[in-house]
Amino acid sequence: MSETRKKKTILDIQRMKAQGEKITVLTAYDYPLARLMDLAGIDMILVGDSVGTVVCGYDTTLPVTMDEMIYHTRAVVRGTSEALVLADMPFLSYQVDLSEARRNAGRLVKEGGAHAVKLEGGENVAGTIRAIAAMDIPVVGHIGLTPQSVHRMGGFRVQGRLEEQARQLLNDARAVEAAGAFALVLEGIPAKLAEEITSSISIPTIGIGAGVHCDGQVLVIHDILGLCEKYSPRFVKKFADVSGIIREGIESYIREVKEGTFPGDEHSF
Ligand code: KIV
Repeated sequence: MSETRKKKTILDIQRMKAQGEKITVLTAYDYPLARLMDLAGIDMILVGDSVGTVVCGYDTTLPVTMDEMIYHTRAVVRGTSEALVLADMPFLSYQVDLSEARRNAGRLVKEGGAHAVKLEGGENVAGTIRAIAAMDIPVVGHIGLTPQSVHRMGGFRVQGRLEEQARQLLNDARAVEAAGAFALVLEGIPAKLAEEITSSISIPTIGIGAGVHCDGQVLVIHDILGLCEKYSPRFVKKFADVSGIIREGIESYIREVKEGTFPGDEHSF
């Protein structure tokens, strides 16, 4: 009997938390990788603004635009039949005013085909989360080491180590939940604090560099496949190392073209 493949929704994600089933999330920015992770059974795909660093080579996510996010979201949606697709709201797409935030969230859904949007911040963006959720667009919050705040944080540093910071992050998590987010990303915070936050709110927490007690985990696909050699944060595990394989393939191509052994008769008309 063939198993029927069904599109995942936010209800499935919430049910997974209720049943204690871990939620799996990876980033994708294009059709082929989205397709592979969808076929592998990933629960959610995040079209992250990390596209700026791992695909475009910027030092931060700050230059990423709405049009770029829509372009990549479309490609990912085309490669996906089961996973829920979540699109990041890039820097300056939601911070200026509520009507701009609502329009940009709507564009990610209408033009990009996303099923939900994610934005960074806690109490300071609760009103924005509420406004977007009121348009019936599912929202995911993101607190802790929020890459769009790199300049305020003085670099990509673990957050919530000091008691006062930890208390603020707990308040942020509660504010994001109260504003109507259906899930919350916890990035770069101590595992113990992530555990406390996870048990203090009823929406699922998705951790990245936040320990094992979160309801799910998210990582950047280029990091887990060893495709991005520029950074290697401690929280990343390389589940495969494809850089060497790609390089070998490219070197063989160059060699065969130079030698005149490619294309052979079988590749010619
Ligand atoms: O942009 C991104 O990839 C993210 C994850 C790191 C959570 O926001």
